Amino acid sequence: MTAPIVLLVNGAPARVTVSADTPLLWVLRQKLGLPGTKFGCGIAACGVCTVHLDGVPVRSCVTPVSATTGKAITTIEG
Ligand code: FES
Repeated sequence: MTAPIVLLVNGAPARVTVSADTPLLWVLRQKLGLPGTKFGCGIAACGVCTVHLDGVPVRSCVTPVSATTGKAITTIEG
């Protein structure tokens, strides 16, 4: 089931409508047009998808977008 989610990405609010379990990586790349965050292994092993979540590095390929609400997301573009 999809639902609107408001994210804070690189200091700006962004509203997306996705399933809560969608990986943050795909929201950044496909919904928000931020291709700087790369896809590599998809299993939290390589690190090319790393973004900061409230200043803490996380692997966006295994982070559900629902886990990021209310937190500041910083990508390489930011
Ligand atoms: S894509 Fe390799 S750790 Fe996320």
